[in-house]
Amino acid sequence: MEGLAGKVGIVTGAASGIGRATARKLAACGVSVVVSDINLAGAEETVQLIVEAKGTAIAQQTDVGSEPALAAMVEKAVATYGALHLLHSNAANTELVEHETKVAQADADLWDLTFDVNARSALLGAKYAIGHMITAGGGSIVNTSSATGQFGEPHTRTAYAASKAAVDQLTRTIATQYGKQGIRANAVAPGAVRTPNFDDGISEEVLDLWRRNHLTPDVGKPEDVANAVAFLLSDLAGFITGQVLNVDGGLTIHSPLYSEMLLGREA
Ligand SMILES: NC(=O)c1ccc[n+]([C@@H]2O[C@H](COP(=O)([O-])OP(=O)(O)OC[C@H]3O[C@@H](n4cnc5c(N)ncnc54)[C@H](O)[C@@H]3O)[C@@H](O)[C@H]2O)c1
Repeated sequence: MEGLAGKVGIVTGAASGIGRATARKLAACGVSVVVSDINLAGAEETVQLIVEAKGTAIAQQTDVGSEPALAAMVEKAVATYGALHLLHSNAANTELVEHETKVAQADADLWDLTFDVNARSALLGAKYAIGHMITAGGGSIVNTSSATGQFGEPHTRTAYAASKAAVDQLTRTIATQYGKQGIRANAVAPGAVRTPNFDDGISEEVLDLWRRNHLTPDVGKPEDVANAVAFLLSDLAGFITGQVLNVDGGLTIHSPLYSEMLLGREA
């Protein structure tokens, strides 16, 4: 993909799922990748997959809820590879969702923790990366949001959905403040994507509900999102900034009645 070879990039949450797929895709495009995750063993596994495919990567253990850890992550990239051009802020604590409730039962500490890991992390990753990107002559940031950030949530995911809406707005703000210095910022908002975390314990009934509400034959794969991220990071997207790209098989664009109307009517 145009303009990726020879660049240096960081992917957070890259021990698994969408982050791992993006790290592998970027490395295949010639990017030297810092594979960042709180799970060091998983990050090292991703590095191994990249190295086996003749790519270049190192693992960096990072808790994206910690500002010093994010600063160290950026410094590690620059110290190892001499520059920083690309950042994919992708990590989220998807397990916190299990503990979420409706608003009247909300736990304020859970809200704060969710925001720290899912949204504040994108702010602080950009905070430390932007100076190096400007020094390098420009850069590109992609944040992982979620289609969930665009819906009212019926039961759980109260904080998760709000944290993703915050990511969307932060993305527009970065694009606005740093565009003239050669930095683009965009977000991807996935629909249902079959990562290990998504698949964990999901019933066939719920999976079928997701399938019925996507317009594509099936829900997404991590590589579907990785391809969109690589495009947005590349020079092919040089005139695209401040956008939230829904990579969601059409989940967000149809009438709420869609899945019921289709039931039993497939050809
Ligand atoms: N899978 C989906 O259906 C889906 C849909 C919409 C959005 N997303 C978003 O995509 C992103 C990736 O999710 P995924 O589905 O690949 O999930 P995943 O659970 O497979 O990957 C998340 C990764 O983030 C890491 N992580 C968790 N807390 C961290 C922390 N404090 N510091 C650093 N790393 C941490 C985990 O170790 C894991 O490797 C997330 O932002 C998620 O909200 C996923």
